[in-house]
Amino acid sequence: MAHYRSAGSIPPKRHTQHRAPDGSLYREELMGEEGFSSDSSLLYHLGVPSAIVEARPWTLPDQATMPNEPLLPRHLKLHDLFGDAERDLVNGRRLVLGNADVRISYAVGAQASPLYRNATGDECIFVERGSGVLETVFGHLPFGPGDYLVVPRATTHRWVPDGPVQAYCIEANSHIGPPKRYLSRYGQLLEHAPYCERDLRGPTEPEVRDETDVDVHVKHRGSGPGGLAGTVHVVPRHPFDVVGWDGCLYPYAFNVADFEPITGRVHQPPPVHQVFEGHNFVICNFVPRKVDYHPLAVPVPYYHSNVDSDEIMFYVDGDYEARKGSGIGRGSISVHPGGHSHGPQPSAIEASLGAESFDELAVMVDTFRPLELGEGGRAVDDGVYHLSWGRS
Ligand SMILES: [Fe+2]
Repeated sequence: MAHYRSAGSIPPKRHTQHRAPDGSLYREELMGEEGFSSDSSLLYHLGVPSAIVEARPWTLPDQATMPNEPLLPRHLKLHDLFGDAERDLVNGRRLVLGNADVRISYAVGAQASPLYRNATGDECIFVERGSGVLETVFGHLPFGPGDYLVVPRATTHRWVPDGPVQAYCIEANSHIGPPKRYLSRYGQLLEHAPYCERDLRGPTEPEVRDETDVDVHVKHRGSGPGGLAGTVHVVPRHPFDVVGWDGCLYPYAFNVADFEPITGRVHQPPPVHQVFEGHNFVICNFVPRKVDYHPLAVPVPYYHSNVDSDEIMFYVDGDYEARKGSGIGRGSISVHPGGHSHGPQPSAIEASLGAESFDELAVMVDTFRPLELGEGGRAVDDGVYHLSWGRS
C-alpha cells in the first residue's frame, strides 16, 4: 500500500535516536518488501525484535495437495467441513485448494489463535460470518462479516473472535494488493477504481503487552508438503511492544459492501469485479448490483473458456443466478479449471432475461497455474457437479 499512515510515538526524523521517558533507546525496525526497494514501515520497539530464547517444530495443518484428475469442474461444500467451532483461525484451517502461488483454506474458529506470522507471503482473509479483533504488532483491526483483512508477510498477529467466525483464507506466496491498473504511478487509487483509500481501515494505535517467554507460530518455506514448514519461536518479551510506527506497509481491512460495482449495457467481463491481486492470481468479488440494461441484454455470463486460468468461486450470500439448477448455494465453491469451458446452467439463461438486479455475493480467485485439491477440498467434493450442464 502506498497510502502512508503513522500511529503512536515516532521521532521527527527517521533513523535517529528515539528514547523512552526513562532515557532508554527504542529499537527501530524497518519492515520492508522487495529488498529495501518497495513499501516499508519503521517500527519502534521496547525490546529487541530479533530476540529468540527457544525454537521448536510446529506441525502445520495438512498442506498436501493432489492434482485435479480426472480434470473436472467441481462443487465443494465448505459448510460440510466443520461440525463445531472448538478451533482457532490458524490451526483450524482446512486446505481446500492450492498451487505454488496461492493456498485457499477454510476455517471455523471461536477460540483465540496463537500469535502467528506467515513468512511465506501475504494473507487475505475474507470473513464470511462472525466478528472479533485481529490483533497485530501494528495495532488492532476490529472485523465483521464481509471484511477482507490483508495481512502483510511476516506481520505478527493473533485472531480473537467474539464467537464462531467462518473465514475464507487466501494465503499467497507473494504480496497481495490493489490491481495495478487502478493505481497512479505513485500508488494512489484512481478515479475509475471501485474503491479508494477512504474505504480502507488501518490499525488502531499499537498496544504494548508486558509478558515474557511468549510463543510465536511461524509458517515458513521448508521441506514439508507445499514447500512449507512450521516453527514455534519463543521470544523473551511479548512481540506487541511497539510504541509507534509509520510507513506504507501495514495490515488493513476493506469491507466488500464498500466495493462499488462497475456495470454496463451489456455483460461486463470479470476483471471489473477485481478487488486485489497477487503474483499469478487475482481476487474478484461479485456484489449486489444493477445488471446489464441493453433491451436485449443477457445478464448472466456467456460461456467462457478462460484458457490460462483456473477459476474458483466462493458463494457467500444471496442467490447466484448463473448457477441455478446446479445445487450450488451458500458456502459452496465452484472449481472451473482451465481447459474446460464453463458458463450458466442452461435454465439460468432464460430465467435471467429482464432481470434488473442481482442479489449475489461471491468471492472469486483466478489462478494462472492449475490448482490442486487439498484434504479439505477432497472431503466435501459433491462428485456430480460436472454433470449439471448436461442434465438441465
Ligand atoms: Fe467463469
